[in-house]
Amino acid sequence: MAGPGRRPGSPAPSDTAPNAAPGDEPDVATVYRAVGGQPFFDALVERFYEHVEADPVLLSLYPEPDDLGPARERLALFLAQFWGGPTTYSDTRGHPRLRMRHAPFVVDDVAAQHWLDAMLDALERTMPDAPLDEEQRAVTTEQMQSYFRNAARHLINTD
Ligand code: HEM
Repeated sequence: MAGPGRRPGSPAPSDTAPNAAPGDEPDVATVYRAVGGQPFFDALVERFYEHVEADPVLLSLYPEPDDLGPARERLALFLAQFWGGPTTYSDTRGHPRLRMRHAPFVVDDVAAQHWLDAMLDALERTMPDAPLDEEQRAVTTEQMQSYFRNAARHLINTD
């Protein structure tokens, strides 16, 4: 999956200010610590799952809708690892292979949009907790929004 350093949706260099060339984007490895470590990702996923629990479109896809705790933990550990945190996700689950892991679920445009809306709302509500200055917060927010948009699109597996 594309990391933030190589976002397909990022603007062409000619569209960016001279001080915002793609090579100057913050290193993904530093994001985990900058946003406050695992508690940030736990809070993000907690808020995301509030939406899942209230959304029949998403909830119907979950094999264990009555016990979302393990799914919540897997997503929080995956995101922490992706953004430069410890490799607990891969140590316990193996290589992410997210497309393969989502193959059993019918992920169409509608489901992906619900997933993305839930995550972007959770992000908006969690970002204020991150111990970042205003500029870092804006850059990191944009970086994560872009990642989630691309990742959700990438996981659509049904017309
Ligand atoms: C496009 C819409 C998406 C839908 C409908 C969806 C749905 C699901 C479902 C139903 C599961 C199984 C729950 C479980 O773990 O027991 C799951 C697992 C998971 N999803 Fe998604 N997902 C979507 C997008 C994403 C995206 C964009 C990411 C990452 C940025 C992601 C990361 C994960 C991870 C890490 C797991 C656990 C995989 C494992 O270790 O088994 N998902 N997803």
